[in-house]
Amino acid sequence: MAPFAPNAGAGPQALRNPLYVPPVLTPNGALLTAQTAQVDLGGGQFSSALTYNGLFPGPTFRARRNDAVSVQLQNGLADPTTIHWHGMVVPHLADGHPLQAVAAGRSYSYQFPLIQRAATNWYHPHPHMLTAKEVHLGLAGFFLVEDDEEAALGLPSGAYEIPLLLRDASLDVNGQLQYIGGSGGFTGPVMLANGTRDATLDVDTALYRFRILNGSNSRVFSLNLSSGASFTLIGVDGGLLKTPATVATITLAPAERVDVVIDFRALTPGTAVMLRSGTGTTALNLLEFKVARQVSVGGVVPPVLSTFTKLLRSAAVRTRIFTFGGSTTINGKIYDMNRIDFQVPHGQVEIWRFINAATNASVVHPVHVHGASFNVDKRTGGRGQVFAWERGWKDTVYVQAGETVEVLIRFDNYLEEYLLHCHRLEHEDRGMMQNFQVI
Ligand code: C2O
Ligand code: CU
Ligand code: CU
Repeated sequence: MAPFAPNAGAGPQALRNPLYVPPVLTPNGALLTAQTAQVDLGGGQFSSALTYNGLFPGPTFRARRNDAVSVQLQNGLADPTTIHWHGMVVPHLADGHPLQAVAAGRSYSYQFPLIQRAATNWYHPHPHMLTAKEVHLGLAGFFLVEDDEEAALGLPSGAYEIPLLLRDASLDVNGQLQYIGGSGGFTGPVMLANGTRDATLDVDTALYRFRILNGSNSRVFSLNLSSGASFTLIGVDGGLLKTPATVATITLAPAERVDVVIDFRALTPGTAVMLRSGTGTTALNLLEFKVARQVSVGGVVPPVLSTFTKLLRSAAVRTRIFTFGGSTTINGKIYDMNRIDFQVPHGQVEIWRFINAATNASVVHPVHVHGASFNVDKRTGGRGQVFAWERGWKDTVYVQAGETVEVLIRFDNYLEEYLLHCHRLEHEDRGMMQNFQVI
């Protein structure tokens, strides 16, 4: 009996633990205490973790466009921390920038209005050179923004809408979460769904909406269902797509999100379906769905989800080139939190070209931009295409070795300082990050 053996390859017959779903909080007047706590990884396997309010993942914030956000962070950790609201358009002082580090024992108030469309965002620490460790040891949660356009669609909701933070972890011989760093990126052998190992979820014969985040430091998922069924993809990082897409596999790099509907209506009670990464003997099991109850309920996926105008390549006024080098640099430079690397004029469409010239296939970069969403326009080299889960509005795009990806971006809001970085957190902490100023 090896209670802490990795679950890689374990089948649906393995002993499974009910999926944890964090409580929902309204962000206006919330308190988040970053603190060490004992958390149940499933089946009474307790581990020490870094948590918000003792929860792993942290509470799910849910609010509506135009609501005010006011969250007080109390830093009960031994190290500095910050909260970054990933995917959210906020002023610099609310962005969790490393310059705004909150020392151990201190508190900080994050205040901003929700000026963006409905989307599945998330929050996590962003302190200088400590992000990878703090995130890996547990600090992360969802921030769901709703708006009228989305509310009118009648998408699955309530018990049929579940945020799903998927990530890997490494446990020591005592079953404690551990972080071991490593310059190329850190992956662990244990899969966690909302912090639960060998997770299972009882589902009704209904449509379910899952807002999936890859919360890993470095691991890239290749999501699929063991039944061979497809996902109905309805949204990505920056919110709903214009129209749904049917996809059997989704590549999800760290920090990327997909909003999917899974249809269990045709399945008979007792059926088990595994959400997994990869296939065959190396598949990683992430979450088992166990069809438990026959129901006939509503919930639809309308043929048109959203109307928005993408940025036009023909409108771009300039191209910026960012070359990601090894595991530490952008355009040959290592991050300096006191240096502004470039300035971006407000309100102008630009092409940002992300180049990963590595020849070693393990050198990959999920490139993330703060302060605005972008449209992925083009990928050359490598996989050579833009995928269904890269349409719509994105804030993170996966750039494999040998690939060049061009995105169209425009900063329409604050004239503030933001970050561009690799979201393979070990790369970010080692310097693959730049400051820019919107002017
Ligand atoms: Cu989720 Cu600057 O990162
Ligand atoms: Cu971010
Ligand atoms: Cu990288």
